[in-house]
Amino acid sequence: MTHTTAALTPAQFRRSFPALDEAPHFASCSQGALSDRLAHTMQRMTAGLMDEQAPWGSWVGKVEEYRSLAGRFLDVDGENVAVLSCASEGAYQVVSSLDWSGDRNRLVTSDLEFPSVGNVWRAQHEAIEVVNVAGVEAALHAENWIPLIDERTKLVSIPLVSYINGTRPEVERVIEHAHSVGALVFVDAYQGAGVVPFSATELKCDFLVSGNLKYLLGLPGIAMLYVRDCANVERAAQLTGWFGRVNPFAFDPAGVDYPQNARRFELGTHPIPSAYAGVAGFEMIAQVDPVEAWDHVVALRERLAEELVALGLTIDYPEDPAHRGPQVALMGEDPDALAARLAERRIGTSPRGERLRLSLHAYSAERDIDALVSALREVRER
Ligand SMILES: Cc1ncc(COP(=O)(O)O)c(C=O)c1O
Repeated sequence: MTHTTAALTPAQFRRSFPALDEAPHFASCSQGALSDRLAHTMQRMTAGLMDEQAPWGSWVGKVEEYRSLAGRFLDVDGENVAVLSCASEGAYQVVSSLDWSGDRNRLVTSDLEFPSVGNVWRAQHEAIEVVNVAGVEAALHAENWIPLIDERTKLVSIPLVSYINGTRPEVERVIEHAHSVGALVFVDAYQGAGVVPFSATELKCDFLVSGNLKYLLGLPGIAMLYVRDCANVERAAQLTGWFGRVNPFAFDPAGVDYPQNARRFELGTHPIPSAYAGVAGFEMIAQVDPVEAWDHVVALRERLAEELVALGLTIDYPEDPAHRGPQVALMGEDPDALAARLAERRIGTSPRGERLRLSLHAYSAERDIDALVSALREVRER
């Protein structure tokens, strides 16, 4: 894992998010708070169109900057990172690059999966047999995965952090077992990237996706796919485009070649505005030490959980701190209605299904929790 030198403290970091004192942000699991760097970057991007009418050189350069920062963030070589538009696209590129015709035709997934990834696995009209680790709580434990992963397993898919309630399954143990029986592993790191410290190299996963709009402090529209070793690719990508070529600027419609790196999974014109935003987000997150920021998040999360329980509310929170992630999920209220009441008080939260997700980030502070707790008290007293 890369540690930054001369990192900002969480309090110093917060100063780059001018709206936070007025509008506490517990919605980073959905969209991160707006930093001044992101706002300026997007203004500069559109202003660039006045300076240069067709700034392709700068745009392609920005995508390369994104790729290299994504590599640095994931602790891998940038050439092992494909720049895509969404995580589902990454999942599709992975599943369709494997040959499912033999005896090894099982894909092991779980109830922790975000729908777009789980849907991609199940939408393949081929010989894929999807095996599911059922139960949001059960899927946190490697012991419930291990018996389902064997010589018939081609791919195992596990999130670093679940979008449902922010919990963290035993990813390392699942990866270790999968590799011991010759299966590949896909990690969806979307809900952890930018808040839970990790290194794709240390995880030893074969594929990993994430996007930038949440804790990575960018905008929607861009995603990174890490591919550890292109030797695992068994089938050439059919969903492709000119940026999936060895030399995109050869402009050869008949020559379908594939580079021996992650670029082989890319399609057409990259999501340029989102690449600008993604770079701004990576630059922001590089200002904090990931371990120090995580300790800060854990301390705030524990306090938030205690305060919610003291208010008599029910939370979906694992017993074992090792499974707790960057959020506390509130249960038993009408999440959409409660989120709307809190939004009236300028408190941002993220309702999903039967949970109101309350997430913490390096920029979160005790005063945000004070504001939330007093707003919850007020809403309940009404
Ligand atoms: C765990 C996880 N994976 C993936 C996504 C997004 O997938 P996509 O980029 O395909 O919309 C999200 C949330 O938006 C998520 O929480």
